Amino acid sequence: MKAMVYERYGGPDVLHLKEVAKPTPKDDEVLIKIHATTVTSGDWRARSLNVPAGFGLVSRLFFGVLRPRQPILGTELAGVVEAIGRTVRKFKVGDEVFAFAGARMGCHAEYRCMPEDGAVALKPANLTYDEAAALSFGGTTALDFFRRAKLRSGEKVLVNGASGGVGTAAVQLARHYGADVTGVCGTANVALVRSLGADHVIDYTREDFTKNGEAYDVIVDTAGTAPFSRSKGSLTERGRLLLVLGGLSDLLKVPWVSMTSGKKVVAGPAAERAEDLFFLAELAEAGELKPVIDRRYPFERISEAHAYVDTGHKKGNVIITLEHDD
Ligand SMILES: NC(=O)c1ccc[n+]([C@@H]2O[C@H](COP(=O)([O-])OP(=O)(O)OC[C@H]3O[C@@H](n4cnc5c(N)ncnc54)[C@H](OP(=O)(O)O)[C@@H]3O)[C@@H](O)[C@H]2O)c1
Repeated sequence: MKAMVYERYGGPDVLHLKEVAKPTPKDDEVLIKIHATTVTSGDWRARSLNVPAGFGLVSRLFFGVLRPRQPILGTELAGVVEAIGRTVRKFKVGDEVFAFAGARMGCHAEYRCMPEDGAVALKPANLTYDEAAALSFGGTTALDFFRRAKLRSGEKVLVNGASGGVGTAAVQLARHYGADVTGVCGTANVALVRSLGADHVIDYTREDFTKNGEAYDVIVDTAGTAPFSRSKGSLTERGRLLLVLGGLSDLLKVPWVSMTSGKKVVAGPAAERAEDLFFLAELAEAGELKPVIDRRYPFERISEAHAYVDTGHKKGNVIITLEHDD
């Protein structure tokens, strides 16, 4: 099968198409023929090793010290079950599914195996393959941070970076939980963020949310521009700052903030749980969550998609489509 591989860290030019062995499902696995996948900020980080300050060494240990341990990027996919292992009961050949490989990656290929008990679920019937492929990365991240923040209905939530992959999911999820949502984004994305259900939208090129006199119960920072030092004055007494993007120094300050105030900082990698995928599928089915699609690129032009994602200004998700010869 064809796979897009990288054998050294660097810019989008390190990616190249390679013929690799088509995987065979183990007894408890399904083999998925991939119709759509995405290029996310996670792929950009793993490809370039351009990671938040202080995480350079940890990232090399995780992704591979000298060269990438997993040469095929891609955290999420949607496609059709082509074959099943001997003991698989939940899926059958022909099922339309979506899946989240997360940090194990490997979705930038024509096929990928997933354990039937892993993060794989039937594709919501009202979503296209492109949309279903984009449900997991931003959705599971936002969901995990909101869970750790113990978000409650009626709370005031501000999402900084509301137009990105994580931000567009966070705005919709916060609405689902009954929060009063403020989205912060650039001028070009104000209408988009409002269309996702944000009650208020702040254009960061015109207004600094830390100076508007408002206090929020939960602030989600996906842009890296709202660390605790800047956001603390905009948090309520028991406010929680969710640092989806934060450096090592932010992480080290987490216990200190809790010890010295009623406020809390939540940081670090989001957990990857299969149940979250099922929940996101239910929300999508109910029409409460719809992945935002910015651009689509054919599989062979994936390096152009990476170059676009590298800008840090995509709107929602960038989709990669795969055509199969048969
Ligand atoms: N902790 C975790 O487990 C975890 C999981 C997933 C992602 N992440 C990290 O979270 C970050 C966001 O991920 P993503 O996938 O959402 O990235 P993305 O899709 O590239 O989105 C980034 C967004 O940030 C916005 N932005 C840039 N500068 C801004 C500013 N000054 N104020 C407000 N918004 C601004 C951009 O909007 P404009 O174009 O309008 O500027 C863009 O929409 C990445 O750094 C990623 O590595 C962490």
